[in-house]
Amino acid sequence: MHIPFVDLKAQYQTLKDEVAEAIRGVLNSAQYIGGETLASFERDFAAYCQVRHARGVANGTDAIHLALRALGIGHGDDVITTAHTFIATAAAILATGARPVLVDIDPDTYTIDPKMIERALTDRTRAIIAVHLFGQPADMGPINDIARRRGLYVLEDAAQAHGAEYQGIRTGALGDIACFSFYPAKNLGAYGDGGAVTTNSAAIAERIERLRDHGRTTHYSHAEVGFNSRLDALQAAVLQIKLRRLDEWNTNRQRAAEWYAAELAESGIKTPFVRKGSTHVYHLYVIDTNDRDAMRNDLEEAGVATGIHYPLPLHLQPALAHLGYRQGDLPCCEASAARSLSLPMFPELTRDQVRRIAAIARAAAERDGEKLQPKSMFSPAALRADRGRAWR
Ligand SMILES: Cc1ncc(COP(=O)(O)O)c(C=O)c1O
Repeated sequence: MHIPFVDLKAQYQTLKDEVAEAIRGVLNSAQYIGGETLASFERDFAAYCQVRHARGVANGTDAIHLALRALGIGHGDDVITTAHTFIATAAAILATGARPVLVDIDPDTYTIDPKMIERALTDRTRAIIAVHLFGQPADMGPINDIARRRGLYVLEDAAQAHGAEYQGIRTGALGDIACFSFYPAKNLGAYGDGGAVTTNSAAIAERIERLRDHGRTTHYSHAEVGFNSRLDALQAAVLQIKLRRLDEWNTNRQRAAEWYAAELAESGIKTPFVRKGSTHVYHLYVIDTNDRDAMRNDLEEAGVATGIHYPLPLHLQPALAHLGYRQGDLPCCEASAARSLSLPMFPELTRDQVRRIAAIARAAAERDGEKLQPKSMFSPAALRADRGRAWR
């Protein structure tokens, strides 16, 4: 029995009549770009995120790119973020002409370490992008404190955390501006590419609206050179239907995470840690193990699809070599890249599937028992001690 990494087909089966009707509605309206379907989804998504404004854009990468531009960030500016993320976070910074400054993560939550942000601050720093990695919000309290003290903007990269909460506040409402991806496999995924920006600022929302549509102010008047980065009405219609199920799907993901944690307890495998006061919506279920490749191999041989997020941190990516980082610069990111394994996670995952996956993982951990003792160079204490020299 094959267990997929995500199962979008199973989800579609539960929605297909509703989706077909919504798509027919858009097709009949002939309003394929903009219009009421988009505006209506934007209102619903803003309300869901507990903010005043949401604007749809073409994808999550553009959401970050346009958000930075809307804040006036560009050449000569530094934007601090983490190296343990998808490359889009840094690519969007580079697209504005600004420089990504990559810092280390907290090894327990994999999110940016606020202490490392402090050390990376310079006169060029204009903004911090906090990535809510794998479905857990970054530690936004200290991050917002630093930003307030230093007059910086805080952006959320919430591509992996639709609906997660930090101290009772939803992602999308935790900084100055937040960026979402609706890539199909995300917790809220379109049937194609899509993204959104959320904010409480009417001025920022208006600027995003202009930037996503060629800098237009009226049909033939362009106040600035913008982009073509619109969320189309068909995707908005699908997303509006799926948004109504998001909480239920996130609850199912959390239930699957509890099953995994129970099955893997005492196995020596480190399961996800959830910060007190936060909720985790498990876009990905990432475990930490010394013999990742052997365990992955066992799972793949048994028909269980897995992933690695991410095998090469951004500071060591060839495309970003010009930023000048070296191996050893960000030890927690590097340790995570070597040890992380993402197990299947999707709302329709069953108890039996989790049991089967966990049994294979447990057997691998038992067989490699000795190896599962934390290696000293990767132990949390050693990593923390190492942080003193992590930032250059
Ligand atoms: C953390 C993170 N940031 C940004 C993105 C970019 O989103 P998109 O693929 O919609 O451009 C993704 C998604 O792939 C992501 O996971």
